[in-house]
This record gives sequence, structure tokens and C-alpha cells, in this order.
Amino acid sequence: MSKLIIEGLHRLEGEIKVQGAKNSILPILAASIICEDECVIHGCPNISDVQVTIKVLEHLGCKVSFCGGTITVNSKNISKNEIPQSLMREMRSSIIFLGALVSRKKSAKLSFPGGCELGPRPIDLHLEGLRQLGLKINEKHGFLECESLGLIGSNIALSFPSVGATENLILAAVKAKGVTVLTNAAKEPEIMDLILFLNKCGAKIKYSESGVITIEGVNKLHGTEHKIIPDRIAAVTYMACAAITSGSLVLKNVVEDNISSIIPIFEEAGCIIKMFCDNILIIDSPERPYYNRLIRTMPYPGFPTDAQAPVMAMTTIADGTSMFVENIFSNRYKHVGELLRLGADIKVEDKVAIVEGVKRLYGAEVSASDLRGAASLIVAGLGAEGITKISGLNHIDRGYENIEKNLSNVGAVIRRV
Ligand code: UD1
Repeated sequence: MSKLIIEGLHRLEGEIKVQGAKNSILPILAASIICEDECVIHGCPNISDVQVTIKVLEHLGCKVSFCGGTITVNSKNISKNEIPQSLMREMRSSIIFLGALVSRKKSAKLSFPGGCELGPRPIDLHLEGLRQLGLKINEKHGFLECESLGLIGSNIALSFPSVGATENLILAAVKAKGVTVLTNAAKEPEIMDLILFLNKCGAKIKYSESGVITIEGVNKLHGTEHKIIPDRIAAVTYMACAAITSGSLVLKNVVEDNISSIIPIFEEAGCIIKMFCDNILIIDSPERPYYNRLIRTMPYPGFPTDAQAPVMAMTTIADGTSMFVENIFSNRYKHVGELLRLGADIKVEDKVAIVEGVKRLYGAEVSASDLRGAASLIVAGLGAEGITKISGLNHIDRGYENIEKNLSNVGAVIRRV
């Protein structure tokens, strides 16, 4: 079993290029099967979630190549409309293929995505919306068997702005007959990237600031070339690494607007943040961050749940008391037990976590059990005295490309054994 070994308390200084967004590339790759042609997608991170998605595409009959950050998908000869359970279970977000398959093949058979480390993640909103578009869904023996004679546009009001449900419904409606109006849709930048990609392929999708997405169905989509947006959560993770090591980093490939709810948190913690043209962010951190605020995770443009764990790791050594309220997922404090092993002082009750900043963390053996929790352990390990050994690296590899190389290039003492 591989581990990351980190010797903490080395100040980070230098430049990191932030990878492309995991949560953009996954739905865009699924969307590529609707275009009966070749799609060329640039800026793709080489992470295991992308590798699993490529396996799904190949299973369906697509020709896929991945070279130098560019993925080319040719879906002309898609033969299948089903995804085996083994692939569905490798990655929960493969449920996004449901809407895309129904658009392309009018039918789909796939298993429920199964359990999730963040607590129960139902797909009721996905299925409810798809049924409103006229999809017949039979839920049997853990499988979803879906069929339609052709979907028909509808007015769908989501009771919660679910990212996955919004994406699935966009993908299903893009070739439906007539107009679909999706209200209370998710507004995440990755949704906007998906819409941009689909419109380049010939879709007719409009988005209004109030969270209404209007999709006028078209007969066919064609191939296109697209560059995905930068990964805002990877950017925040590197910012937290800088802040916990009194470091100074130049981060390339950061869109300021997409992290506007997070920048003030680092500024309030004493970091100086400057944005420059060409998506460059510079963060300069104080000797010790200070923080006394409340952070509530919310749907975009609120503070993202994915940033909760890495930012919490930074606050463990801050001067002050921070309070987190996790409003999106019911089981997203699994990293807390591991941060305690490093000497953090955190109390959790239900969706609230109170972090009393300590002067020092001390290295220990810890284990990651989800992607962003794993990132928080890396942040904490960099700020801990002595050696931290992190296991459960399959979680970090799901979403971060070359994280240990990027960090060692800027002065971290970190290696994988
Ligand atoms: C996506 C992101 C994930 C991020 C999350 C919230 C991808 C691949 N993953 O996940 O990184 O943490 O958004 O920003 O983009 N819910 C229901 N019923 C449904 C759907 C969702 O109750 O049908 C609930 C979920 O259980 C959860 C909340 O809604 O509590 C948010 O889920 P959702 O926005 O759908 O997240 P994902 O798309 O799974």
C-alpha cells in the first residue's frame, strides 16, 4: 500500500500550475457521446476519475486517446447503451452517463451508483426530472432500465440545486422535442462549462443569473474543440498549503470569480492575495494565520463543500476559533478524526465543527477516506512538526494530478513510497 511521507514545517515558495477541473471534465466527457463525431478537449487532468470515465467511454464503443492533457473522443460508432456495475461502482459520478446515454441511444441500462463516503447520495432528483421529460425508468435489482420513444421538453423545478441532477437533465434535454425550463438549477462554474461545451456542439441552452436554464431541443449535436476551466478546489488546496507553511505561492490557471467566496477567508486569515491578468494568483501568508469566523458550505456561489476540509486543515493552526457548518453532505467530517491524531483541537456535533486553533500540529500516521479529506491531511502534514504518513492515496489520486510533485517543486519535503 503506498503512502505519502511528509516532513512538515518547510516553507513553500514558488509556482504551481493548477490543473483543469475534475468536475468539468467528467460531465463533458459524458456529453461527448451525444455528439456523433469527434470532440477534442484540452486541459484535462490525468487523475483516476478521468481514467475510469475513459474506461466507460471505451466500453460504450468510443475511440478515446489521452495525450499531453488533451482527450479526443470519437463516439460515431457507439454500440452499447449499458454500463456494467463494476464500472459504475468505481466512480459515483458515472451516473452522469444516464442523461447522455438517453440523449444518444433513447435507452440506457446502468446500476445504481451505490454507496458513497460522504453519506447517502440519492439520485431521486435526477430520476424525477428525467421522468418529467418522458423517460420510463424501471428500478429493479439495483439497476435502472430506462427507455423512451423520444424525450419531450418540460418545466422542471428542482427542490435543491443538485449539481449532478442539473447536469443529467441538461444532457437528457439537449435533444428533447421542444423546450425544457429548469428552475432552481445549480450554478457551479462547471455547469457553465458544460453548457458552453454543448452550445459549441450546436445545442441551444440559455442560462439566467436567477438559476433558470432554458434548453431548446435540437436534432443533432456535432463535434467541437474545448478547453476546460481550471480546478477551483485544487487552487484552494494549494492556497491552504501556502497558508499553513507561512508560504508564498504563484498559482497559474486560477479564475478569480470562481473562488470569490474563498479569497476573503484567506485574506481574513492574514494572507495577502493578488490577482494578475492571465489568471495568475499570488498568495503571501503571515507567520501564523488567524481566524475567528463562521464558514457555512452552500451551493455556488456560496462556500463550496469541497473546500471545507482543506480550509479546515489550515484553520487548525490558526490563532483563533473557527466554526464550520456543513450544509451539503451529511458525512463530510471524516477527516476530523485524522486531524485530531495530528494534534488539532476540533469538536463536531452534527453538521457543526468547532476548530480551536493550536500552536503546533505534530506528525503522525493518518488515513484518508475521501478525496478532499485526503487533501486536508496533506495540508495539515505540511504544517505539522515531524513526519506525517498518509495512507488511502487512491482517494487523492481521484482528483489531484501530480500533487506531490507540484508541492516538492515549491519546497515541500514529500514523497510517495
Ligand atoms: C457534485 C460534485 C462534488 C460536490 C457536489 C456539491 C461532481 C462530479 N461532483 O456532486 O464534488 O461536492 O457536487 O457541490 O461534480 N441530492 C439528493 N438527491 C439527488 C441529488 C442530490 O438528495 O437526486 C443531495 C445529495 O445527497 C447531497 C446534495 O444533494 O446532499 C448535493 O448533491 P449534488 O449537488 O447532487 O452533488 P453531486 O452532483 O453528487
